[in-house]
Order: sequence, then structure tokens, then C-alpha cells
Amino acid sequence: MQPPASAPEIIAPDALLVEVAWEVCNQVGGIYTVIRSKVPATVQGWGDRYCLLGPYFPQQAQGEFEPMEDHELTLLTDPFAGAVRQMRLLGYDIQYGTWLITGRPRVVLINPFQVYDRLGSIKADLWQHHGIPTPDHDDLLHQVEAFGHLATIFLQILTAEVVPPQRIVAHFHEWMTGVAIPVLRREQVPVHIVFTTHATLLGRYLAMNDPNFYDHLMQVDWEAESRNFNIETAVRVERAAAHGSHVFTTVSELTVRECIYLLDRIPDAVLPNGLNIERFVALHEFQNLHQQYKAKIHDFVMAHFFQSYAFDLDNTLYMFTSGRYEYHNKGFDITLEALARLNYRLQQSGMEGQVVMFFITKRPFTSINPLVLQSRAVLDEVRETCAAIERQVGERLVYAAAASTDHRLPNLSDMVDDYWRLRYRRTLQSWKTTQLPSVITHNLIDDAKDDILNFLRRSNLINNQHDRVKIVYHPDFVSPTSPLFGMEYGQFVRGCHLGIFPSYYEPWGYTPLECVARGVPAITSDLSGFGDYVMQNVPNHEDKGIYVVQRQEKSFDEAAEELTNMLWNFVLLNRRERIMQRNKVESSSELFDWKNLRQYYDRAYSLALERK
Ligand code: G6P
Ligand code: GLC
Repeated sequence: MQPPASAPEIIAPDALLVEVAWEVCNQVGGIYTVIRSKVPATVQGWGDRYCLLGPYFPQQAQGEFEPMEDHELTLLTDPFAGAVRQMRLLGYDIQYGTWLITGRPRVVLINPFQVYDRLGSIKADLWQHHGIPTPDHDDLLHQVEAFGHLATIFLQILTAEVVPPQRIVAHFHEWMTGVAIPVLRREQVPVHIVFTTHATLLGRYLAMNDPNFYDHLMQVDWEAESRNFNIETAVRVERAAAHGSHVFTTVSELTVRECIYLLDRIPDAVLPNGLNIERFVALHEFQNLHQQYKAKIHDFVMAHFFQSYAFDLDNTLYMFTSGRYEYHNKGFDITLEALARLNYRLQQSGMEGQVVMFFITKRPFTSINPLVLQSRAVLDEVRETCAAIERQVGERLVYAAAASTDHRLPNLSDMVDDYWRLRYRRTLQSWKTTQLPSVITHNLIDDAKDDILNFLRRSNLINNQHDRVKIVYHPDFVSPTSPLFGMEYGQFVRGCHLGIFPSYYEPWGYTPLECVARGVPAITSDLSGFGDYVMQNVPNHEDKGIYVVQRQEKSFDEAAEELTNMLWNFVLLNRRERIMQRNKVESSSELFDWKNLRQYYDRAYSLALERK
């Protein structure tokens, strides 16, 4: 008999699952998104047999972690709590509590610094038994190795807490936690180990430095290169984890190739990344949100551009890219090239309307450009003046209407006092300028060497009035506290029309998926794990507003031309078509819900339980 649809499936009922990651309650990068968004689906399958394990950094954990009080801990009967109590008895500083996110999972956090006095022997062990050398002054490596040591002790104690036939699956993400794996194997701790790498370290470095990375992948001498980039310890840890795990996995077919050539082990499985997709009950709600947040972007654009010249906001498309500042890997280079070509085509076409393109990334800066801030402040004053005039005219109009004998609309302009007229004129005078709107919102520390700025200078894409593609380079993440946008990143995404992410190197790449989840069409590439997944699993993806630029075996120029064509075709859509497309994008987001993608993880766990 089929179980009722709503009943959660029970996976390996005799097993516990411990998921270990550096980014549990500690946001650093993309793995945080993986772990955090997957929690609700994992909890649904594993219930209280599931627990996360990570390093304890009080500053970071504050606000998202609720520790259990001591008396609560004594009352708990689960094996995780038992192991935590044991470790405390042995004098360890270890926290047990709840991660305050959807799904509210149990979490064990261990302070890595408590065993710094043992680092000497931890390092000697890794060197003696696993050939992993550790230099003296690398604090991240010290934290990683200290945490690995503590995680090993925790798992050892946990195995003693469980009563056979109950078994333990320990799933480690990335080399930073994987350092525990060779030790667990050597000491024959009875846990079934899954290791997931979200990229290979060497792959990332090589891709950044070798323009023909994919052609050279097969001939890389990993030892020489890891020394060359000064990442030998981490690479050796990554290899030891890959080889020591019972089940070795990665996030996309693209990283599978890297694993084969750079780590010398074929992954047993690919675990694609999903999101916790929350759809609105009222289907149209996300369209309203687009309109609402687009209005906020309009506010920014008015402040930024209208000081120099105005254009029709209703006929303006907002495009953006975002991510770590890896000019080449993230495809900023090809995006800029395509934008320059699009600008030319739009100018030639005589069509109306323009594109405003945002680059959202992070670069060292000294301050927000004061002129940009000032313009925004003066526009706020213009807005206040307008509101005062509106109130004055409003009150007087009602009076005039009530007193009217001829029922004609009086001249509204006569109803404004001289004071406000003058103020209106003066504010505008002080605001308008003949300077071009800046292409960047902040003062960069290394302005002269910045690749984005240099491209814009070279191609003269500098927000001339006649440019039909305008640029706003915002070298900081968008956040509600930022004085320029004052919104959440997710709200900014909703307000835009298209996300552009034609990466050259991207093991998975969440940014386009984050667009799709919000019903915003996105461009990705066949060199990103997400793009590759879409090509293989989503039929007619272009129809659904997910475009994949072909970069494998294509020259830069060919790929830039294909991207230009995609942008051009997007610009040709009318509003009705855009609305329809957003509907399709949004409904395809379900494909990437962890409720569907969790099965890949569960299969890996079953496989690990079969292996000893
Ligand atoms: C949403 C709103 C519509 C609005 C449209 C604008 O769909 O519900 O009321 O007309 O956005 O779309 P656009 O692509 O022009 O920003
Ligand atoms: C790594 C990859 C990125 C991926 C993330 C989560 O940071 O570089 O592409 O999205 O891991 O798997």
C-alpha cells in the first residue's frame, strides 16, 4: 500500500545523519545557502535523527543559534545530546542547540580554539599518517585542523552512544571539514562517510589563471600546481577526504571532470543544489512584488541619472549580474562585451527605451562617491518640495471647488505660493548638472587597475546620454542598510527584469537559480553546473526564461555574440510577453525545490550505508 502523500518518507530508519559543514550558523559563501536551504527537506525526511555539526564562532552564530540550557540538555535522551554531555564531562567546550532557520534543526557547534595547545601533535599526526604538511602561520588551516580533530572525537563518542543496529552517516562538505575523514578511517570509527566537494581548490585557481583551463585540465601536475599556488595543505586534505570517504560526491557534471583529473577519484554521485522554493498562494503575488521593487529601483535610477538627463522609466529594462569579483570566472568580461555590442545595436536600430545594467559585487572601496550620495539627498528634497506643493494645491483646490460657480478647473499653478515656487526652482537648479552620471557608485581603492572600469573606459561605455545601455557598478552587496538601494538582495532581484551570469568557471552557481525562484528570467552558461543541469534536465528551458550561453569549445567572440543575441531578443519582448515569461519562469522553479532534489542526497546516504 502507498503511504499517504503527506506522510514524510522514512529513510534508513535505523540510521542517524550528521551533516558537517564549516558554514553551519556561519555564513561565508555558497555552501551556507546549500546547507541552510536544504534543512527543511532534510528534517522532513530524517526528523530528529538528523543533526548538523560545525565550528563555533560566537560572533557569527549570535542571532541564528539558540543554545540549549544546561538543565534542558540533561533531560534530553537523543544520542546527539548524550555525546555532547559526554564531551562536556571530558572538559570540552561544545554547544548543543537549535539553528533558528526554517526547519529548526539541531546543531552541535564546537569551538576549534580550545585545542590550539594540541596543534603540534594534530599537525604531526596529519603529516606522519597522511602526508599532509601544515605551515606554521596559517590561521585558517589551524582552525580547520583543530575542528577536524574535535569533530573526530565527537563522532567517536557518538558511535559509543548509539545502540546497534543503529548506524551513523557522517556527511562532510568541502575540504575544511573533510580533514576529519582520513583520521576517522585510520582509527576505524564505525561511521559511513560521505564527502561532497563543491569545487576543487586547484580547479578554481587554475581557471582564474589559465585562459585555456579546460584544454589543459587533463595534463595538470597537481603537486607542482598546488605548490605553485601555495595551497598544498588544502589540496592534500581535499584529496585525502575524496579518497577516504565511502561515497565521494560533487555538485555538478562539470566538477566531476575536475575531480577525475585533479583529485584522481571518480565521484560516486552528483548532488545538484536546490533551494527551498516558497511559492505564494496567490499566483500573481510575485508579479506585484516585481512592480513594487521595480519602483524602488526607479528611485535609485532617478537619483543617479536624472541629475544629468532624464529618460522614460516605463521604457527601461533593469538587468544585473552579481557575485564574487572574479572578472573572468564569473563572466563579467563577456557580459561587458555583449553589453557594448547591444548598446551599438540599439543605437543603430532607432528603437526607443534603454537598458540599465547593474554590476553587484564586492571590491575594496574607501567610501560611497559623495556626489552620488548628494544627488540622492537633493532628490529627496525635491520630493519633499513636491509633496508640500501637492498638499497646498490639494487644500486650495477643495476650497475652490466648493466655492466654484462655473464648475471649471481653476489654474492649479496659481494656487502655489511664491515661496514654494522659488524653492522648487532653486532645488532643481542646484541639482541639475552637465556632468555624466558616474558608472560606479563608490570610490574604489584601486580604481586605475579595475577590470570593469577599464573595459568601460576603453569602450567608452560611460553613461553618455546617447548610450542606450547605461551602467551602474555597485562594488558592495545590496542590503537594507545601504543608503543607495536600501533593500534586500532578494527584493532587488525581484525588481529587475533579467539576471546575466555567463560564467567561465562555476561548479554550481546559485545566482541564476535565485532569479528563477523569484520568477526573474536568467542567463547562465554551459560551463556552470546549474547551466549544465538545466540543459540536461529542463526541456525547452529557453521558453521558461532560462538561457544557456554555449561557452564550451566556443571562442570568446562567438560566445559574446550569442549572449548579445539573447539580450537583443529579450529587449524586443513587450510588456505582455515579459509578464507571461515571468509566469513560466516562476512555475519552473519547482524543479529546483529541495523536496525534489533531496533524493540525490538520500541515494548517496543509502550507498554509504552499504559500504564499509
Ligand atoms: C507586473 C505587474 C504589472 C506590471 C508589470 C510590469 O507583472 O503585476 O502590473 O505591468 O509587472 O512589467 P515590466 O516587465 O514592464 O516591468
Ligand atoms: C562553491 C561553488 C559555487 C556553488 C557553491 C555551492 O562555492 O563555487 O558554484 O554554488 O559552492 O555548491
